[in-house]
Amino acid sequence: MKRVQVAETASLASKTVRVSGWVNAVRAHGKILFIDLRDQSGVLQVVFLPNEKAYEPAKDLRPEWVIDIVGVVSARPKQMVNDKIPTGAIELVAKELNVLSQAKTPVFEVLSDGYEISEEKRMKYRYLDLRRERMQRNLRMRHKIIHFMRDFLTREGFCEVETPCLTKSTPEGARDFLVPSRLQPGSFFALPQSPQQYKQLLQVGGIEKYFQIARCFRDEDPRADRQAEFTQLDMEMSFVEREDVMEINERLIIEIVQTFFPDKKIQEIPFPRLMYGDAIEKYKTDRPDLRKDQDSLAFCWVVDFPFFEKTGKGEWTFTHNPFSSPKPEFMQDLLNKKNIGNILTTQYDMVLNGAEIGGGSIRNHRPEALEAVFEIMGYDKKMIKENFGHMMEAFSYGAPPHGGIAYGLDRFISILLNEPNIREVIAFPKTGDSRDLLMDSPAPIGSDQLKELNISIKKNAKKR
Ligand code: AMO
Repeated sequence: MKRVQVAETASLASKTVRVSGWVNAVRAHGKILFIDLRDQSGVLQVVFLPNEKAYEPAKDLRPEWVIDIVGVVSARPKQMVNDKIPTGAIELVAKELNVLSQAKTPVFEVLSDGYEISEEKRMKYRYLDLRRERMQRNLRMRHKIIHFMRDFLTREGFCEVETPCLTKSTPEGARDFLVPSRLQPGSFFALPQSPQQYKQLLQVGGIEKYFQIARCFRDEDPRADRQAEFTQLDMEMSFVEREDVMEINERLIIEIVQTFFPDKKIQEIPFPRLMYGDAIEKYKTDRPDLRKDQDSLAFCWVVDFPFFEKTGKGEWTFTHNPFSSPKPEFMQDLLNKKNIGNILTTQYDMVLNGAEIGGGSIRNHRPEALEAVFEIMGYDKKMIKENFGHMMEAFSYGAPPHGGIAYGLDRFISILLNEPNIREVIAFPKTGDSRDLLMDSPAPIGSDQLKELNISIKKNAKKR
């Protein structure tokens, strides 16, 4: 007999069905045994009556055992109806029981919301932690939002393209994760901090509307809203101006909220726009929390950021992205490397309830403008050629004007789900010191592997 999901049993009264799942809870009422059976669709009450064949083996059942049951769906007695769950008006009278897998006593409660359990323990036993209803809801909502994004952008003419993870360092302000090359001894790949350069090269390649659900890697200290490995919705478009990028993105975000969180109120549509200078003056931050009512979603755009800022050493560096274009009225200053501190960039950040959930810009598609940015940052011609020669060269073969944006998906989704940190919406997150407690990584590797990679580890290499 084909298995049905427990949620389907609600509409199968008087039918004989087969269900499989985990024992959620076990209780006895006199001689009658009850269990709640859980699968990904919900929970179903199962009754074991003493005259049935399934009765004797049911006496051994314990929480989290995996079982398979054939039984008859029956209406519950009136006083037993539970309006709170979809299967609350029925129960399954078990005829046959098959134990598929026994379970040790779980190391923690999986029926609670889990906030009370130490996070290290939850990460080490993540496969148990994921069984709780809250984590199931979070991962399924994450899937739905990503699915919606893919659909929406496909309808708008975008093409999803995968870009390499073994690549070369892209300056995004964080440290790179490096991967030693076996075939090129002494050389390293960098894992991408974002697909920034590739998505621009795709524009030169004629993919006029690109997107990707992209994994990004940044070797920075994790925080509530940061992981070393995180996911972006990354986009890039050709022949657009700032307004075009902002328009389609605002529409996408509003549709997501209205589709999946109809009870949440977006505080202001269209999203208010703040100039960076005004935001700093008024709110002392470039990601202000504009909520008037704690339950609302206060989106805003922050624009008109300075292009450059001084480093501690007194040198100029970019504030966001070296590939950005200045606002058109500052292009001449950039090319002449004049009034550097006053140059504003086309950068736009999207802020939600005080968190930066996304950011992007219109890019410099003219090689001489990109070169000027690197010169202002003090790079000499040789350094520019070594690090960015491929971009400059690509732009010399007919580059369309282009721009884009990337969202921190983990951040956006955790705020929508009212979660206190992004780890709650990531299936297998890392700890505050970037360890994976379930896999026990990072881990030392064997001397054979090291030798093959031409790497030797200093004797006194210590944990930081
Ligand atoms: P940026 O560096 O601003 O832009 O990143 C875009 C968004 O990604 C999220 N984010 C993070 N989320 C979790 N953990 C992290 N360590 C982390 N770092 C960033 C933030 C941020 O707004 N290539 C450009 C985008 C572009 O210009 O198109 C970029 O990556 O929500």
